[in-house]
Amino acid sequence: MEKIVIEGGRRLEGEVTVSGAKNAVLPLMAACVLAEGVSTFSNVPDLADVRTMGKLLEMLGARVNLADGVLTVDTAGVDKWLVPYELVKTMRASVLALGPLIARFGRARVSLPGGCAIGERPIDQHLKGFGLLGADIKVKEGYVEATASKLKGCVVPFDISTVTGTENVVLSAVLAHGQTTLLNAACEPEVSELCGVLNKMGAKIEGAGKDIITIQGVTSLEPVDMHEVMPDRIEAGTFMVASVLTKGDLTIKNCRFEHCGAVAGKLIETGAELTRTNNGVRIKGGCRTKSVDISTLPYPGFPTDMQAQLMVLMSVAEGLSVVTENIFPQRFMHAGELRRMGADIKLVGNSAVVRGVPKLSGAPIMASDLRASASLLLAGLAAGGRSELSRVYHLDRGYEKLDKKLESVGARVWRETQ
Ligand code: EPZ
Repeated sequence: MEKIVIEGGRRLEGEVTVSGAKNAVLPLMAACVLAEGVSTFSNVPDLADVRTMGKLLEMLGARVNLADGVLTVDTAGVDKWLVPYELVKTMRASVLALGPLIARFGRARVSLPGGCAIGERPIDQHLKGFGLLGADIKVKEGYVEATASKLKGCVVPFDISTVTGTENVVLSAVLAHGQTTLLNAACEPEVSELCGVLNKMGAKIEGAGKDIITIQGVTSLEPVDMHEVMPDRIEAGTFMVASVLTKGDLTIKNCRFEHCGAVAGKLIETGAELTRTNNGVRIKGGCRTKSVDISTLPYPGFPTDMQAQLMVLMSVAEGLSVVTENIFPQRFMHAGELRRMGADIKLVGNSAVVRGVPKLSGAPIMASDLRASASLLLAGLAAGGRSELSRVYHLDRGYEKLDKKLESVGARVWRETQ
């Protein structure tokens, strides 16, 4: 097992480039199952989760290759529809195989995802959508067993805004007979990216990015040729916080500012200086960061995937900040680790009351989930002295060489075998 060692207290300065978005490429890989043939993508990050999704597709009979940011998926040999618990328990996004398998083969057997560090992760809305489209859904021995002769378009009213729920139902409705209308659909940019690629493959989807999406079913789809995956807005936000936290001056390249509005707005409120560049942003940290309140919401609200990173910044800001987590109410595993570094954080229900302290102190810290591990790495950068972050496999699930990128702009970080 590896750990990351961080010598804190150094200012970050220079240019970093954001990689392709994990939460865009995972549904895009699932979408390949819908079309027989070879689909290719560029700007694909080499992440553990991307490798896991590749293994899932290979278990279904596909051939997958990822090299130098180019992903090739050949689905001509796909002839299985089982996704086992062993795979789903390591990556919840495996449930995205359900929609394409039901649509293309009329059947799927996919393990229910367990909970995870950020909370219970139900998929009732996914199953509601498939059921309304005419699939017969059974839950047996921890697996979803779905069968459908031919899906029939209908209205699918979601009870809650769900990103992969919206994606999964879109992935099945594109081959349904007739029109499907999703109500209360998720508006995240990754949903729009998926719908845009599906339309390139021959689907007829309108309204992506809004809460009402209409899909005119078609009989078949064609593979996609060299789609460039959108940049990762959460990685971009993570770098923005790193710059402000270290009173640095970072130019973040290959970042779509229009996807980062809520995070950029909050950082400006704290006193950061942010200017747009032609393909990203430049952000400088002020002398003393002001405390602000954060409340996570579905897009375009403040993203839950940036909550832990902002909590680190608030833990050394001037004043009191209330961080309210409305998406995953238990998503505060990082708070305990930050307390060990000297942060003053009290959890009250689904909120954390953070009183800024002048400085955190380095300590041995443990990652618990993807975004918490990124936030603890940032905390180590800002802390005085040395920190050692263990269980970095959480970080490697969703960030491509984050420690290397931080080192390239002045951070003193390196990996050691634990
Ligand atoms: C996606 O997860 C992202 N993952 C998450 O990113 C992200 O935190 C989340 O959306 C919210 O933005 C991927 O895209 C692969 P949801 P998802 O369904 O789709 C409840 C990361 O760090 N819900 O939008 O699983 C659910 O419990 C990861 O990259 C139901 O009740 O999240 C939650 O409270 C972490 N029933 C809320 O909806 C359902 O059927 C939003 O969850 C589905 C969801």
